[in-house]
Amino acid sequence: MKGILLAGGSATRLYPLSKAISKQIMPVYDKPMIYYPLSTLMLAGIREVLVISTPRDLPAFRELLGSGSQLGMSFSYMVQPRPEGLAQAFVLAEDFLAGEPACLVLGDNLFYGQGFSAMLHEAAHRAERGGACVFGYYVKDPRAYGVLEFLPDGSIGPIEEKPREPKSHYAVPGLYFYDRTVVERARSLQPSARGEYEITDLNNLYQREGLLYAQTFGRGFAWLDTGNCDSLLEASNFVATLQKRQGFYVGCIEEIAWRNGWITGHQLAALSERLDKTAYGQYLADLVNE
Ligand code: DAU
Repeated sequence: MKGILLAGGSATRLYPLSKAISKQIMPVYDKPMIYYPLSTLMLAGIREVLVISTPRDLPAFRELLGSGSQLGMSFSYMVQPRPEGLAQAFVLAEDFLAGEPACLVLGDNLFYGQGFSAMLHEAAHRAERGGACVFGYYVKDPRAYGVLEFLPDGSIGPIEEKPREPKSHYAVPGLYFYDRTVVERARSLQPSARGEYEITDLNNLYQREGLLYAQTFGRGFAWLDTGNCDSLLEASNFVATLQKRQGFYVGCIEEIAWRNGWITGHQLAALSERLDKTAYGQYLADLVNE
């Protein structure tokens, strides 16, 4: 399975913050935002990742993340000329995917909670066997999201995008797993009323064939998006609180690479030396001596 990190869009709800730089490069406490969704892909065991962003912002991601070899990974980069919808990512990624199953994560979605890795691996295996796997997250007001419907027979109804009258409280977060037919299906989509190739329409192509699966996140699990100033600050406070209280870092890509066995302790130590004036660098150094 290969990963796609979609980090484009114009983020007008964060103006003037995002007027000159990408939202997904802004800090969430002590790391650029994109580290968090990248760490999600890594926890799913995905080593090959395509970063998609705007013509203006893609160079910054390339500078930040490089080739990926420092993490035992491989990063590719591609421009999305205009924000024409999340499902367009698969059409852009056709050559990169080369017929493999795919996981898409949005560059502004942060996930955290116990048992997350196991859920990711299960979703990946399910999609690899054929179908699509999404997640459901209970929110008080789901009207700003894609919303799941659970049918009495236990199957999933069509997902509704930003419904006025939601059929459940389960929002669909920006994290999706697909089988190898995803590019072909994404190509068949027509733009929606808002002019976008909708991820919800793609998911519903699977749903109609009984090939859409959903796992729900439990109480206490954190899914945060970072679309406006308040949610950005809340995400930073969340990460700071957890890190200071427990001492475990959230979204630490170097740590995950090392725990996954993709880099050695020696390589981790070398990465820590480059950051040695920071608490982040000290954290990596302490891991090596663990
Ligand atoms: O956050 C989860 C929600 O994401 C889902 O529940 C919805 O079903 C899904 O449609 C999407 O909702 P939004 O329409 O609110 O997504 P938004 O337009 O805010 O885009 C999400 C992120 O993706 C944002 O950081 C910008 C980026 N993006 C968006 C588009 C449309 C791109 O990089 N390229 C694009 O073409």
